[in-house]
Amino acid sequence: MSLLITGGTGYIGSHTVVELLQLGKDIIIVDNLSNSSTLVLDRVKAITGKTVTFIKADICDEAALDTVFKEHDIEAVVHFAGLKAVGESNDLPLSYYQNNVSGSVTLFQVMAKHGVKNLVFSSSATVYGENNPSPLDETMPTSATNPYGQTKLMVEHVLFDLARSDSEWSIACLRYFNPIGAHESGTIGENPNGVPNNLLPYVAQVAVGRLPQLQVFGDDYDTPDGTGVRDYIHVVDLAIGHVRALESLTKIKGCKAINIGTGNGTSVLEIVNTFKEISGQEINYKVVPRRAGDIGTVYADASLANTLLGWQATRNLNTMITDTWRWQSQNPNGFE
Ligand code: NAD
Ligand code: WQD
Repeated sequence: MSLLITGGTGYIGSHTVVELLQLGKDIIIVDNLSNSSTLVLDRVKAITGKTVTFIKADICDEAALDTVFKEHDIEAVVHFAGLKAVGESNDLPLSYYQNNVSGSVTLFQVMAKHGVKNLVFSSSATVYGENNPSPLDETMPTSATNPYGQTKLMVEHVLFDLARSDSEWSIACLRYFNPIGAHESGTIGENPNGVPNNLLPYVAQVAVGRLPQLQVFGDDYDTPDGTGVRDYIHVVDLAIGHVRALESLTKIKGCKAINIGTGNGTSVLEIVNTFKEISGQEINYKVVPRRAGDIGTVYADASLANTLLGWQATRNLNTMITDTWRWQSQNPNGFE
């Protein structure tokens, strides 16, 4: 039996594939390479000594997915494939709804047709919107403030309805907080196209000399140093969260939303100062006005993942930043 990993050459997917290969799992990746490269597969092989079956295909392509399910004996799917840039989603909403919503529905239809009803889905803390106080827990109301967030929320709704319609489905919607870090080997990591939107890749590229200066978006939030507070989680802890979720699917009847975070908040300036200390590089920054749509404090109540999946994060901020820096300094231009 095999596991199908959509988006498996991407940032979080590739780290999850490493953890699964190390457990001896047989892996099939479907990815259209819109935001990743097959160079990742050589690195995954170097880490694990194992190979995967790679299929270049789009999740919107029903015929291609049908062939994958016909040709392989798939027991469960981990569904990472999707577009993820919040700003871009405001400019290209149709691409986001097409890729993230239509593509997901197509995947679920093909899964249902082939009787594969075990699924782990990449959701996001963005579904908590802007009105809930942290720590955020899974019982809180959900909402979205941009098309990207809407797509995550819509797919969650699709999955809750699907599970209600057919009791054979076991689905974990993992709501990730802020994934950062890289594999400890320094050979795979986050490789954003163009100028990064997220804090950590931006800071890392300033440290390595690719970008001149970080803009800190606001220092007038109601937080200890005035800068935004987030729940950063090591991508390997997140990857292990997927392993635990797959192992727990037999216990999960229906569809469950589960936070994957550490439960701790860290400010932008704490990140900058820790990065400076660990890398030994100056991080040139200036404070600018708040970024539209940002909120001051976001962190998880991570207790449900512990109870339901037996999972909790174990890597601290120093490890997250040490591993980010190892990846960035060893691969200043990403995988190229
Ligand atoms: P990523 O862009 O590195 O990986 C996504 C992968 O999906 C890429 O390899 C891309 O080529 C592929 N892909 C995109 N559209 C596709 C399609 N239509 N068909 C086939 N492949 C397609 O992103 P990531 O950071 O690894 O994120 C993985 C998932 O986790 C995404 O669904 C994202 O929305 C979600 N997520 C990410 C974060 C984060 O901060 N990185 C936070 C919360 C949720
Ligand atoms: C973190 C903090 C910024 C960049 C986003 C998505 C969310 C999820 C994770 C997918 C904030 C500050 C940032 C910079 C800065 N993705 N910042 N200068 O906004 O928490 O979440 O990624 O699901 O949906 O919205 O992450 O890394 O962009 O920002 O000062 O150049 O860093 O204001 O406080 P965010 P982020």
